[in-house]
Amino acid sequence: MTRRAGCGGDGVVAWQQRADVVVIGTGVAGLAAALAAHRKGSRTVILSKAAETATFHAQGGIAVVLPHTEDSVDAHVRDTLAAGAGLCDPEAVRSIVADGYRAVADLVADGARFDESAPGQWALTREGGHSIRRIIHAGGDATGAEVQRALDHAAAMLGIRRNHVALEILHDGSAVNGVLVRNADGLGVVHAPSVILATGGLGHLYSATTNPEGSTGDGIALALWAGVGVSDIEFVQFHPTMLFDRGAAGRRPLITEALRGEGAVLRDARGDSVTDGVHPMADLAPRDVVAAAIEARLRETGDECVYLDARSVERFEQRFPTVTAACHVAGIDPTTQPIPVVPGAHYSCGGVRTDVYGRTELPGLFAAGEVARTGMHGANRLASNSLLEGLVVGGRAGRDAAEHARSAGVPMAKALPVQRDTLDRRVLQSAMTQWASVMRDASGLDSLAAVLETAAQRPMSSRADFEDAALTATARVVDEAARARTETRGCHHRSDYPQTDPTQAFSRTVHAEPAAACLP
Ligand code: SIN
Repeated sequence: MTRRAGCGGDGVVAWQQRADVVVIGTGVAGLAAALAAHRKGSRTVILSKAAETATFHAQGGIAVVLPHTEDSVDAHVRDTLAAGAGLCDPEAVRSIVADGYRAVADLVADGARFDESAPGQWALTREGGHSIRRIIHAGGDATGAEVQRALDHAAAMLGIRRNHVALEILHDGSAVNGVLVRNADGLGVVHAPSVILATGGLGHLYSATTNPEGSTGDGIALALWAGVGVSDIEFVQFHPTMLFDRGAAGRRPLITEALRGEGAVLRDARGDSVTDGVHPMADLAPRDVVAAAIEARLRETGDECVYLDARSVERFEQRFPTVTAACHVAGIDPTTQPIPVVPGAHYSCGGVRTDVYGRTELPGLFAAGEVARTGMHGANRLASNSLLEGLVVGGRAGRDAAEHARSAGVPMAKALPVQRDTLDRRVLQSAMTQWASVMRDASGLDSLAAVLETAAQRPMSSRADFEDAALTATARVVDEAARARTETRGCHHRSDYPQTDPTQAFSRTVHAEPAAACLP
């Protein structure tokens, strides 16, 4: 046992372990990465703090170009770039889209099964921003659950370390050498030359979100604390249709966009269409457009929610069992009643800056899935492109991390538990919800900055301490990037700058302030 004269937590490193590759997170990107690294012969350790992943809750499906159909990689790239509002990296988009079918085929080889419209032919649906039906799904609207089931099964022999909170990426300034972790035995160090962040999103920056409880910006914070930049972090995507329930907080049910692909329509309390005249694709416009149209209608009418009328959708309960169950819990029969909905924090389009192999600026540190910013999503992610990106880039990052581990020396990490700035979670969530949601302006973002300044140092003694610190660090960079972007673009809407400014068609990369030194 090594005692450290640290300044946080209990200061004791109680256990140590060696690995080639450490994967933090167990959603689609994490498990695709872990399996790929393992299949390359790496000793792979998977850390997970929570039981639930965002992947499990994904409803719509996976956007993928199937061979021998009227769809094409060009068309999928075009739709993705249009949704991304000028900030996608076209080469990254093409690279990921073109590799999609191969990655899905690997997932099928690992046991995933998708819905069929005829024997041997996958059923395809459509969502906002897609010019064609190209979304494969499973269990009706339970695609994520099927993807998670297949990957959990395939990765079972790797042994996921549950209730392990990764507190810090250990590095010497030029390369990664491990991870500082807290579990039931206390602090530990996993010494490893390659670490893959696959920690998901940041929805719990807000009071209500479609994200599972573990989505607290962990990977964003870990990267920032390691000196690695994050890009496009101001682009938080609000899903247009989160189930409305007055006063409900935390994770809220998603009402999948695929319902609108099957004919459901958005109306206000008076029965008027919400999206008529707003965009040529009306209810199937990209989701930033639909979310902003709902927000504008709610401001205009003073209503609390709008309604998704899905009564015309055929075989509703069979096709959308997850939505049916969520509505029933809320006392709504979606086959006879319109569903009350509001926009909800759903997806971080930006994240840790990587290339399409998940490589960050710090050798040995990789990121994949929602936590990463590859250039695929730009200012607004196209629906159902996230499972695709997680699958493709997760696999690539796993292979690359294994390669990196082979060429790197045997690392010896030094850990020094630290204190971090943290703000009370309810205070942070209410400030983010008030000032950094669908609609933003300079004065609100300044008020948010002032609240974030009041964060106080706390030792990282528990999962909650760490999550509050991660939320605080993440909120600060969202606020900084949102203040700097003095225009409206994609899912970043500024009421004081309602136009898109062509001179701001670039990604912004933010680094954290150097961490307050925490000396022995
Ligand atoms: C949905 O089913 O509407 C969500 C899918 C996604 O976020 O890509």
